[in-house]
Amino acid sequence: MNLIYKFKKLINNRILRTPGVTFLKKTSSLKKKKQHINFWINRAKSNENFNNFFFQSAELDKASTIRFSSNKNFLVGEEIFSSLANNGLIIIENALPSCEVEKIISYLNDLKNIKKKFNWLANISSSTRNNETLLNLGIPDIKNFPILKNYSDQFTKKIYGKIVLPSVQFHHLKLLNYIEKDKIRGETYLHSDRFLPHFKIFYTPFNIGVGDAPLKFCLGSHKINEKYLAFFENAVHFDETDIDCKKIMENKKIEIVTTLPNTLYLCFTNGIHSRSSFLNPNSERYMVFLQYVEGFNKLDYLLN
Ligand SMILES: [Fe+2]
Repeated sequence: MNLIYKFKKLINNRILRTPGVTFLKKTSSLKKKKQHINFWINRAKSNENFNNFFFQSAELDKASTIRFSSNKNFLVGEEIFSSLANNGLIIIENALPSCEVEKIISYLNDLKNIKKKFNWLANISSSTRNNETLLNLGIPDIKNFPILKNYSDQFTKKIYGKIVLPSVQFHHLKLLNYIEKDKIRGETYLHSDRFLPHFKIFYTPFNIGVGDAPLKFCLGSHKINEKYLAFFENAVHFDETDIDCKKIMENKKIEIVTTLPNTLYLCFTNGIHSRSSFLNPNSERYMVFLQYVEGFNKLDYLLN
């Protein structure tokens, strides 16, 4: 199981991964950058489902709330998809039934203490950055969490036009008595992950307060239009320090996603986002990430 998993991961990362900003960063010719962006954006446009979420202008009268509560069958209704298309971010509170919340908490505790009581798809990895943070990362099988998988299936069917299996990561992150003073590129600077339609689903069984590095998202910044494309053609850092990024964010609201326990949120991370800084030197954060950049890759764009 582990070997097959590692092999698939390798092929996905080396060959099939959906283009990010690496090519744009290493290419100086504006003409080549435009060709590259246009080619992939045209491929994206041929997916009808992307049209509503990424290419149609936001309808501001339908962009009211982004916070919802789960319904009794854990189904995602049209008002949630409509808000997502307009805002690029939605939050579902009370997202999972208590038995599944408890199961996720058990897995996260197993990860924190590296007890390996559960069957993880790859070895739990533990890494530190400059002795400032300690991150334990585990990859469970999504089948163990049927309602979470059901949310993932509903969102991928609507956004990609087919069910796409997520890459699932459970994180336990701990600050080692460290105060985040400087901003970090790709993390605490507002930035975009890639120019193509892109999203992540986050789930937390616990509160995320303002000091716990909540996600920030510039509502509506995921819409692919002329301003958006100019940003990717001209950007140096692909973040808020680029002038064209400021133009995308003009007159838009930055939402800070603090949460109650048992909250799921989905963010279009081709839009402008960051995490906030941790404000407590001994902060701990437990988080579940669902990502689709491997499940929906270059082949899905090219063969569409
Ligand atoms: Fe990001």
